[in-house]
Amino acid sequence: MMRAPYRHFLLVLVLCTLAACNDDGASGQASAEISSRNLAPADEQLAAIYNRSCRSCHTVAATGSPLTGDTAAWEARMEKGMSTLVDNVVNGFGGMPPFGLCMDCDAEQFEALIHFMATGG
Ligand code: HEC
Repeated sequence: MMRAPYRHFLLVLVLCTLAACNDDGASGQASAEISSRNLAPADEQLAAIYNRSCRSCHTVAATGSPLTGDTAAWEARMEKGMSTLVDNVVNGFGGMPPFGLCMDCDAEQFEALIHFMATGG
């Protein structure tokens, strides 16, 4: 049986979904979040890395990160060039910790992850 606090949380979640709790500005952001949460790399190994490292931030607008699949947000980032982006992940950038929390990722994997997040596929 579910514990009471958890059940309460689910109820609030369901009510919010039904009543569309967000105001207009926030609901656009919320829907970008929801669609980014539904994306995963097709490659299984890359998906595993993405899920344990990048996903926790890059599907949550409040982190200030460009959301996965938000091509408009990624356009300006991609203009820096792939090697700069990989360097910025390795060294950490703004609110992003070094290696984007994937300590054993190599440059090739970071490139594939960035490509996936920037395009959503
Ligand atoms: C702890 C949260 C967090 C995690 C984990 C994380 N990121 Fe980020 N990422 C951010 C934030 C926040 C930004 C925006 C930083 C800014 O612009 O100040 C960002 C920006 C980026 C950028 C753009 C950098 C630039 O130069 O504009 C890339 C590329 C990126 N992340 C890739 C990744 C990859 C790949 C992973 C997983 C291996 C990952 N991130 C994991 C929070 C995170």
